[in-house]
Amino acid sequence: MNLTTHYLGLELKNPVIAGASPLSFSLESAKRIEAAGAAALVMHSLFEEQFSSTGPSVPIPFHMNPEQYVQHVALLKKELKIPVIASLNSLREGAWVRYAQYLQDAGADALELNLYFLPRTDNDSSSVVEQRAFQIVRLVRQFVSIPLAVKISPWITSLPQFARRLEEAGASGMVLFNRFIQPDIDLATFKTVSRLDPSSPQELTLRLHWLAALYSRTRLQLSATGGIHTSENLVKALMAGATTAQVVSCILLNGPEYVQILLSGLEKWLTDNNFSSIEHARAKVDALRKDAENAAGRENYIRIIHNWGRENS
Ligand SMILES: Cc1cc2nc3c(=O)[nH]c(=O)nc-3n(C[C@H](O)[C@H](O)[C@H](O)COP(=O)(O)O)c2cc1C
Repeated sequence: MNLTTHYLGLELKNPVIAGASPLSFSLESAKRIEAAGAAALVMHSLFEEQFSSTGPSVPIPFHMNPEQYVQHVALLKKELKIPVIASLNSLREGAWVRYAQYLQDAGADALELNLYFLPRTDNDSSSVVEQRAFQIVRLVRQFVSIPLAVKISPWITSLPQFARRLEEAGASGMVLFNRFIQPDIDLATFKTVSRLDPSSPQELTLRLHWLAALYSRTRLQLSATGGIHTSENLVKALMAGATTAQVVSCILLNGPEYVQILLSGLEKWLTDNNFSSIEHARAKVDALRKDAENAAGRENYIRIIHNWGRENS
């Protein structure tokens, strides 16, 4: 079965990428991911907060300092055959930008730029915040020639235009979407509880919506992240318009070998439906993707709300 796909100028043997996570901390788990069949590995991020002449600007014992991170890229590149995508996490210009070049020099096949931003003040308009994102992409682009993907949040007012402007700024891929840490409140202790629970498949529908909406409107290659736990989830993300799917929670829960189960399920689905490749399947289900896009419109919204009682009675 032909599972090949393209992402960030790379021809990948299949669409399953291990997303950014602690699984890239050690060579051993990275090798397990490769052995399980993942087509590429996105490394855990190097954060802008790790760059300061006096040490990290936040009191967190980072797993690797920037120099160690660069060395780790070189090690993973030497030991793995699959492409290695390094990850930078930032939204302010600074010394970290030069590291984009160091990561390229260390052999990174591509760069994922995670623009994790949470505006807190009432000084900046949404347009100012978005301009900052484009500026960062333009800046990083000056330092590297390898392909650049941008991992974004879903909380952007006009995502199709945002995508176009990311492309103009020099991105070639977009990763949908960051999962935010959303603290809960412990009513017994009056404390906030900040933890990162594994995702659930319910989170996928937001991704499907935007993949379908963006697919025909952008030249950026789209990678889905968030809520992919089964091969059915994987198939849906690909049919909606992703060329690759990044998985993290399901391999943290089940081990890197779970990638193999996702891939077997994908192959079985393609075979059972007489598709010879993912491209073949995507072309056939183009109508389905358009339906999904239409299903996102106001008419469908009004129809569902209007018919709710009738359809559920
Ligand atoms: C423990 C953990 C660590 C993560 N570290 C990073 C990171 O360093 N950089 C990043 O961009 N995303 C990071 N993520 C987010 C994942 O790459 C992914 O986008 C998210 O978990 C959604 O995918 P999933 O539903 O398959 O878990 C992390 C997620 C988890 C659970």
